[in-house]
Amino acid sequence: MCLLTAACGEVTTESAPTLTTLSDTNPAADVVEVQLVAGPAEVEYLPGKPADVWAYSDGARPDIAPTVPGPVLEAKLGDQIIVHFRNELPEETTIHWHGVRVPPMSDGSPSSQTPVPPGGTFDYRFKAVDAGTFWYHPHVHGDVQIERGLYGVVIVRGGVTPEVSADRAFVLDDVKIEATGKLSTTTEQLDMMLGRQGNALLVNGKRNPVLISSAGARERWRLVNSANGRFFNLNLSGQKFIVIGWDGGLLSQPYAADNLLIAPGERYEVIVTFDGRVGDSISLRTLHYDRGHNIPDPGPQTIMEVRLEDRVATAPPLPTVWGEAPVIPVDAATPVRPLVLDEKEEGLTEPQFFINAERFPNVTPTKGVEGQIEIWSIRNDAEMDHPFHLHGMFFRVLDLDGQAPAHDGWKDTINIPQKKTLRFAVRYGAPGTWMYHCHILEHAERGMMGMLELSPK
Ligand code: C2O
Ligand code: CU
Ligand code: CU
Repeated sequence: MCLLTAACGEVTTESAPTLTTLSDTNPAADVVEVQLVAGPAEVEYLPGKPADVWAYSDGARPDIAPTVPGPVLEAKLGDQIIVHFRNELPEETTIHWHGVRVPPMSDGSPSSQTPVPPGGTFDYRFKAVDAGTFWYHPHVHGDVQIERGLYGVVIVRGGVTPEVSADRAFVLDDVKIEATGKLSTTTEQLDMMLGRQGNALLVNGKRNPVLISSAGARERWRLVNSANGRFFNLNLSGQKFIVIGWDGGLLSQPYAADNLLIAPGERYEVIVTFDGRVGDSISLRTLHYDRGHNIPDPGPQTIMEVRLEDRVATAPPLPTVWGEAPVIPVDAATPVRPLVLDEKEEGLTEPQFFINAERFPNVTPTKGVEGQIEIWSIRNDAEMDHPFHLHGMFFRVLDLDGQAPAHDGWKDTINIPQKKTLRFAVRYGAPGTWMYHCHILEHAERGMMGMLELSPK
């Protein structure tokens, strides 16, 4: 097996892309206390040609180089989490804990904190109140800072735990690299319009990695789309994904899917079982998805190979009970809040993006009361899809153009297809100001962002 070593010349593949975990420096069993640093670093997307990136590293482990994605923040349900953050970037930043229900002062958004200046520090404190897969990233110049490499996974363990031979997290991303191996710094009209799409697809920061596994193995994959604008439409050589979880944790009823569309910001948890023989290779591919503006179809693109090197015994049966069904009582009297997403490009040097005809930061805050239930009816008038994200709480999708979804579960980010109306029900969370925006970062940074101001009940 010389494929995985640098010694065998023409190396086009990289080995299993595992992530490191932030070290917990607090001896208490129910406290996770970590040190997270953001700073400039180098990684190689083209062999021998390092790219200048921005990356997170573990402040308690100076022996480990910064990585893209950053180290995983791992906790279990009920843990108290303390993150001592240090900014070594040449510009200000914050950390947002996407999907984690944190108190507003730890949300890292422009409405909740002054950005941390270069050389500055900030402590984020919150409790792990939901089990699931979340992610962290800056909320300042998101289109630039996240694209440069600042993102990492948050895993909160707890609840029903299926028996698997491996539990892995995969962050999907793409970068635009020059022939020199450096990240492209030019922003074209198309990058602003669609969100920058790269020419190199990454799984945990690696191009075409190889995952070594076994025939018959059952694995749990936690998938995060951290790309600025790319939609991943996953397919695993004809094998089915059993979808067990969405943004907000486990579903009450898992379902099988041949293809899995993941919009920027979304997370899916799946169970995969590798049918096949020893020696087989299975490719994880992304298929074309038409998200508007005649985006070209590059055909299926392989993003990772799974090699079956031995065989393991058939896995025990999956649990029959999973998560709790989401409940938010709504009826004809539930207040409905209309939102309209739109974009404008004609006659402009840069496209502009709107929610209810307003562009962030010049927006009228939406107001509500903690615990109140509302229906958000979001109409996408644009000629492209917009993945809509709400901070601080989960929602439950009611319908898309009047049609109830086939599956049910908690979401914090949902794709709203071009020219369609999506309605979700939400029970307002903690008092404070929460952002909502399109998770195509170029859109959020060019206006498609709003604020929800919640007062105490
Ligand atoms: Cu991951 Cu405000 O977003
Ligand atoms: Cu978020
Ligand atoms: Cu958008």
